[in-house]
Amino acid sequence: MQLKDKVVFITGGARGFGRAVAEAVLKKGAKVCLADVNVEVGEATAKELQASCGPDNVVFVRCDVSDAAAFYDAFQSAVTKFGRIDVMCNNAGILDESIWEKQLDINFGGVVRGTVMALNHMRKDKGGRGGVIINTASMAGLRPTYWFPVYGASKSAVYHFTASWAQNPDLTSAEVRLVSICPSGSKTALLEVTDEQMINIEHFKQVMEQVSYCTVNQVVEAFLLAMEDDTIDGTAITIKGKEGVEKGNFLLDPTTKTYDIRK
Ligand SMILES: NC(=O)c1ccc[n+]([C@@H]2O[C@H](COP(=O)([O-])OP(=O)(O)OC[C@H]3O[C@@H](n4cnc5c(N)ncnc54)[C@H](O)[C@@H]3O)[C@@H](O)[C@H]2O)c1
Repeated sequence: MQLKDKVVFITGGARGFGRAVAEAVLKKGAKVCLADVNVEVGEATAKELQASCGPDNVVFVRCDVSDAAAFYDAFQSAVTKFGRIDVMCNNAGILDESIWEKQLDINFGGVVRGTVMALNHMRKDKGGRGGVIINTASMAGLRPTYWFPVYGASKSAVYHFTASWAQNPDLTSAEVRLVSICPSGSKTALLEVTDEQMINIEHFKQVMEQVSYCTVNQVVEAFLLAMEDDTIDGTAITIKGKEGVEKGNFLLDPTTKTYDIRK
């Protein structure tokens, strides 16, 4: 997909990966709706991006992805403002094992809500224009670790849900692609957590310094690949600190061959 004049909806767009993806697609001539529960940061980000990329190209909308009605209203307001959504980035997420039910509802529930909503809007076989749905999973969803068991499970669910929907044969005529993005640890505000939010954070940091964090730019590269390469569908794009960006299915490929991702 060429991004010029396309409309990109990004949950968790106020900061971190979401904001960086917004900047990158704006530079390619797209329009962006930043959707986030953090109104203060979201509005400030939108203001900055409007100043650098044009006031009519960026809008902020308050949106809690764990609230189905509010999420629907936010999506519809973006459709009203820009006329359509071509790319849906279900990217909002938290890392907090102390509120694990809420964490599941945001990290996985938000992706399910956003995917179903975007599919209904985009499906060409039901009057839409086609599009791409990109769901932010994590390497933590592909490779079990003890630091954040529920977070990892929520991301595993995102990967599985996304790849499962992509196998639906009706989506060929719908012309909607689905991709999950699986970054390894990256130094955003998400990782500024306390001991209650993650098990043994000091050990996590020690290990991450050895295996190396991935950069926000690498994650943006993966998002752009998912948007612009029309051959990518149902795939997990993994981002590992040292090795960079890789596309492929790292749990199961379509012929159910198992990859051992620990090697
Ligand atoms: N940073 C990492 O190490 C890392 C690694 C792999 C995957 N991820 C995933 O990437 C995504 C983006 O994370 P980030 O690193 O940019 O973190 P971040 O904390 O900088 O950004 C997350 C954004 O999501 C928003 N958000 C949180 N709850 C929300 C809700 N209920 N509704 C709407 N918005 C909400 C936050 O306000 C914030 O703006 C998340 O899904 C995260 O799990 C992050």
